[in-house]
Amino acid sequence: MGGTTEYAGNFVPGDECVVSFFDSFVLTKQEGSIHMGNTTREDIVQQLEQVLREAQTTLAQANNSEQIQAWHSEYLGRKGQLTGILRNLGSLAPEERPQVGKVANDIKVTLEAELQARQEAIAQAALEAMRRAESVDITLPGRPQTPGKLHITTRTLRDIYMIFAEMGFQIYESPEVETDEYNFQLLNMPPGHPARDMWDTFYTTTPGLLLRTHTSPGQVHAMRQYAPEPIRVIVPGKVYRYEQVTARSESMFNQVEGLAIGKHVTFSDLKGVLMNYANQMYGEGRVARFRKSYFPFTEPSVEMDIDCVICNGKGCPICKYSGWLEILGAGMVHPLVLQYNGYDPGEFSGFAFGMGPERMALQKYGIDDIRYFYSNDARMLERV
Ligand code: DAH
Repeated sequence: MGGTTEYAGNFVPGDECVVSFFDSFVLTKQEGSIHMGNTTREDIVQQLEQVLREAQTTLAQANNSEQIQAWHSEYLGRKGQLTGILRNLGSLAPEERPQVGKVANDIKVTLEAELQARQEAIAQAALEAMRRAESVDITLPGRPQTPGKLHITTRTLRDIYMIFAEMGFQIYESPEVETDEYNFQLLNMPPGHPARDMWDTFYTTTPGLLLRTHTSPGQVHAMRQYAPEPIRVIVPGKVYRYEQVTARSESMFNQVEGLAIGKHVTFSDLKGVLMNYANQMYGEGRVARFRKSYFPFTEPSVEMDIDCVICNGKGCPICKYSGWLEILGAGMVHPLVLQYNGYDPGEFSGFAFGMGPERMALQKYGIDDIRYFYSNDARMLERV
């Protein structure tokens, strides 16, 4: 503290000086010239007043809690200057002690009050500084909130559910882990059937158990559950293919299967249902075409195309400049499939179809890579 040297030898500014004070006392005593009792009341009062002034000056300069602490131990602490002086009260005449004690005590009270005020001022200043540093410019434009939304696949699936629900189709749930029998055999693909090559399959280590390659085994479950009642269901869900993942193929994706069975279900019904679906899903006035195709579980089989929703049939990269988008496979349920699963093909007929919602979303939004769907890239999720 700045005042230490100034007062050194005069009175007791710090712990070291307590010693020096007594040193000089011892000295003078030895000389026999001045008794300690000669340290007058005035001397001590003067010392006290000097301490008060110095403490006040120093306190006014303290700006943080470390400085305040140092100040406190320097002046008011157990080994501080004030205590140091008071220790010497013993050298005064007994009747003088209370008077000097009172002066000292008043100084102590004064300093304590000033200390508190200073502490409050420092805290206030710190708060002000923090407020200034953290101040918010309320004239800045706000940051927009980005609310979450459903994944594009979920939205597409829900659109499909709505459209078919209006046509009386119920959602039928079917397992993702299937038997070879349900995934293939009961759909008219006995072991060794060449059509099995259309589906690269994940087999489990349990013989005969696999991850379904399509939602078509849902047809088998529905027929076996409801036969001989009429059926109108869609079977949505995930399917799995043991395929290299590329821009056009994923090893996991969704399908929605459709199945209607009754006594007079015809190919016209199939066309009517699918046209209605295409108009609702892709917009009124779509042009569709049915191309002959092959699936083991339908006869006849078709693939349905609509005019490209991106270029309206003019030709673009999404439709590979053909003007057409392939949207699903379909057909009349094969008589053997009806028979395997509880319906007399002489009495009942049915149609079935299968579509891929990710692929539909790709087409609808002009997305060029199916891997975006499950790569969690926020840019893709914001775009659609
Ligand atoms: N299961 C077929 C596939 O994954 C799609 C399909 C085609 C389903 C024709 C059908 C259908 O119900 O009739 O490629």
